[in-house]
Amino acid sequence: MTRVCSVACVLILGLVVSIGAQGAPTAGQKIATDADYAVHMKEIGQMNGVLTKSVKGGMADEASKAAARMEVLFKNVHAYWAEKKVTDATEAAQTAVTGLQAVQKATAANDMAAAETARASVAGACQACHMAHREKLPEGGFRIK
Ligand code: HEC
Repeated sequence: MTRVCSVACVLILGLVVSIGAQGAPTAGQKIATDADYAVHMKEIGQMNGVLTKSVKGGMADEASKAAARMEVLFKNVHAYWAEKKVTDATEAAQTAVTGLQAVQKATAANDMAAAETARASVAGACQACHMAHREKLPEGGFRIK
C-alpha cells in the first residue's frame, strides 16, 4: 500500500511539476529542460507570426508588443546557450534580441520600413540557429542538437 502510494505520489508530483513548467515563461526564467525550451520556442513561433503580420500591416503597437514579448523569451534562450557555451547559438539568440529591440525602437518612431528591416534580421537568426541546432524528428516535432 505504502509502495503504491509512493509511486503514485511521485507520478502526481512529476505531473504537477511538468504542468508548472508549461506555464507562460517569465523574464529571467531559467530554461532547465527540453520541455521548457520547447515552450519558449512554441511561443516564439506564435509571436513571430503576430510580429510579421503586424509589421507588414503597419500596426506599430501590436508589432511593438510582440517584439517586447519575444525579447523576454529570447533572453532566456540566450542564457541557455551561453551557459552551454555554444557560441553560434548564443550569437543567433543575441542577434534576435538586438533585432527585436530595433523593432521596438522603429515602431516607437512609427518607422515601419526600419521595423521591417529589423524584423528580417530576427528571421535570419531563426533560420541560422535552426539549421545548426534544430533536428526534425521522424515521428514529428523537433529536438535540440
Ligand atoms: C539560438 C537558437 C534558436 C533561435 C535563434 C531560434 N530557434 Fe526556434 N528552435 C531552436 C531549437 C534548438 C529548436 C528545437 C527544439 C524544440 O523544438 O524545442 C527550435 C524549435 C522551434 C520551433 C518548434 C517548437 C516545437 O517544439 O514544436 C518553432 C516554432 C521555432 N523554433 C520558432 C522559432 C522562430 C520563429 C525563431 C525566430 C524568431 C526561432 N525559433 C529562433 C533554436 C532556435
